Amino acid sequence: MSSYIIEGGKKLQGETFVSGSKNASLPIMAASVLNRSITKLYNVPNIHDTQMMIEILKSLGCKVKKNQNKIVIDSSNITNFEIPENLMRQMRSSVIFAGAILGRYKKVTFSYPGGCDIGSRPIDLHLKGFEKLGIAVNQNFGKIKCETEEIKPTEINLDFPSVGATENIMLASVLTKGVTTIINAAMEPEIIDLQNFLNKMGAKISGAGSNIIKIQGVTKLKEVSYNIMPDRIEAGTLLCAAAITGGEINLKKVNVNHIAPLLDKLAHIGCKMQIKENEVELKAPKRLKGTDIRTMPYPGFPTDMQAIIASCLCLASGTSVIVENIFENRYKYMGELQKMGAKINIEGKTAVIKGTKKLYGTKVQATDLRGGASLVLAGLVAKGTTKVDNIEYILRGYENLDEKLKNLGAEIYKIQD
Ligand code: EPZ
Repeated sequence: MSSYIIEGGKKLQGETFVSGSKNASLPIMAASVLNRSITKLYNVPNIHDTQMMIEILKSLGCKVKKNQNKIVIDSSNITNFEIPENLMRQMRSSVIFAGAILGRYKKVTFSYPGGCDIGSRPIDLHLKGFEKLGIAVNQNFGKIKCETEEIKPTEINLDFPSVGATENIMLASVLTKGVTTIINAAMEPEIIDLQNFLNKMGAKISGAGSNIIKIQGVTKLKEVSYNIMPDRIEAGTLLCAAAITGGEINLKKVNVNHIAPLLDKLAHIGCKMQIKENEVELKAPKRLKGTDIRTMPYPGFPTDMQAIIASCLCLASGTSVIVENIFENRYKYMGELQKMGAKINIEGKTAVIKGTKKLYGTKVQATDLRGGASLVLAGLVAKGTTKVDNIEYILRGYENLDEKLKNLGAEIYKIQD
């Protein structure tokens, strides 16, 4: 296991940039199965989760070459239609391969993705979508077998605008004759990136970014090159790192339209910002002001930013109230913040944070990806030394986070336990 050691108290200053989006890369990498050809992806973040996707692509029979942030995938000769169980368990978003393999081969077997640190993470909406498409779904002993002679175009109403279910239904219906419509679709920017990628491959999809997506089936998909969008959650994490340390940074390669709700909250808690096309210059106040947060599906405040802004609110003046509406168990990291002196009361979906003047460095454990990032931010400003254990969670979703923070003046380094 590895850990971060962080000496608190340094204001972040200088310039940094946002890497490619983890949550856009994962479905796009799965979608490369569809074209029986070459897919060249640029600006793919070099993180654990994209490495896992490469392992799954190879296990299906794809040839994959990676050079830093460029990945070339050859899916012309796929021989296996089962997603490896051990990889499913390690990364639940591998379920996104189901739609892609179904879309091309009309059959797939996979195991129930483990629930994880932030909630049970069911896939009932994915499976209901497949059944509506005329796919037989049989489950036994944790294995799920999906198969059909022909995928039927249809209209699918999602009970909840699930990102993964929206993506899986898009992938399963791209090669289906006729028009499939998703109603109450997720509107996240990553869905737009997936639509743009698939259309560049020859698909005919419209509506991504709205709550109604139409997929007009096509018969052929071709070789494609594509540049992954910037990671809006990493952008928010770096801006909050500057905010919590009272620093001043210039963040480049960010799509400011993707982080509007966060920018609004950062202004509300006292940060001054110059917002340009692909850049944000942020100057933090001496002390942040408290605010209230309720997480919502996009374009509301993102659940992935909940833990990260919570660290800032632990040191803000006044009392802040957070309501987590998306996942049922996304406050585990708060127990670790309390070890650092944070004053937090949790009642079900609601967390009440009473701002304090100081946090204190100590030994804490990352409980999940964004909860781990939240502890790093708290360590940047805590008095003394903070050791964050289990940083494998953080390495899943952030490319060179410690390097980027170090280049901004933070005293942080990685150790192998
Ligand atoms: C995606 O997860 C993201 N992951 C998550 O980011 C993000 O938090 C989430 O969307 C919400 O924005 C990737 O894109 C790889 P959902 P996903 O399906 O698709 C319930 C991160 O930190 N639900 O929109 O799994 C579910 O339990 C990760 O980068 C069902 O009930 O999210 C949850 O309460 C964490 N049945 C809510 O919907 C289903 O079939 C949102 O889930 C599917 C979901």
